[in-house]
Amino acid sequence: MTGDEKHTDQHGAPAEAPPEVRAVYGPQDLSAVPAFQGGFINFGHWDGIPLDRPLTADDRVHSERNLYRRVLRTLTADGDTAGRALEVGCGLGLGCALALEEFGFAAVTGMDIHPDQLDRARRANAERLAAAPGRLRFVRGAAEAMPCGDAAFDHLYTVEAAQHFRDLAAFARESARVLRPGGRLAVTSFFVPSAAPEETPEETPEKAPEKAREKTPVDAPRTADAAKALADRLDSFASGLDRPHALSDLRHALASAGFTDVRAESIGESVWPGFDHYLAGVPLPVTWPRNFLPAYRDGLLDYYVITARRPAEQEPPGSGTSQYEPSDG
Ligand SMILES: C[S@@+](CC[C@H](N)C(=O)[O-])C[C@H]1O[C@@H](n2cnc3c(N)ncnc32)[C@H](O)[C@@H]1O
Repeated sequence: MTGDEKHTDQHGAPAEAPPEVRAVYGPQDLSAVPAFQGGFINFGHWDGIPLDRPLTADDRVHSERNLYRRVLRTLTADGDTAGRALEVGCGLGLGCALALEEFGFAAVTGMDIHPDQLDRARRANAERLAAAPGRLRFVRGAAEAMPCGDAAFDHLYTVEAAQHFRDLAAFARESARVLRPGGRLAVTSFFVPSAAPEETPEETPEKAPEKAREKTPVDAPRTADAAKALADRLDSFASGLDRPHALSDLRHALASAGFTDVRAESIGESVWPGFDHYLAGVPLPVTWPRNFLPAYRDGLLDYYVITARRPAEQEPPGSGTSQYEPSDG
């Protein structure tokens, strides 16, 4: 199997990107619009970058790299060795390069659903791919149907891609399958905040289904309201490119897939004000991206780092019968 082959989901359907994702990351090449810089496509983590002055393109790249650093640090906390990592939704693969070069991961696989992004990633990383064969590779695959063997990775992370995933439960199940027992996961992206104030930062697999049943009626109306409000304010939600996933849905999906130590930390204050300040200084062809900051201030969205661990000795539900062969693509 190679990374260029199409993979199928559990129903046999090809793991094709939805039309909005195909357009934005295909010919439109979102990495080339003024809101992004340096080949990264994320809103950035702006701590340590002074916001009391005009921001530069270098600041913007710095913020995007810092968002990766914020996520990758969680994977090697507690003295975990930086082993084999999978990035889901790797875009141009510059975060994979950072993981290799700054964090010393043994090997990094960048996976993306869009073939054009993989072409760009291979071009952007041509020298690294030649210099370190075996340590860096790019494969085509969907978060919901990963073309990877069981327990193939020690770490899995995803940076500003989960807002596009169609099915968080499938993403969580696949993540549990491809991580080895004891492996760690980190997700950063924007979600609709949970309404349940009693939500604890930690969920055990045993308690999670009950908690989820309790929370569903509380969260559902709020999420529906937020989805409508987000679509009114932000074209990326109106078009279906971004999905108004509730944070509680991801937590529930991870716990149901067998993850433990599920924790979510809000980092919105480190993301949205800096991103908006940068947008204020660049020529934007459209103005709606300036609505992200007010949407955050109004409680419709927040940006999170979510971490979890696959238990050391527990197999995730449904594992052991994977239809996927280990991929070397
Ligand atoms: C906003 S970009 C982020 C890219 C990169 N992580 C970064 O921060 O520069 C989102 C990426 O996720 C990819 N993507 C969208 N849906 C996906 C899915 N279901 N599975 C895998 N990748 C997906 C897109 O093709 C795109 O390259």
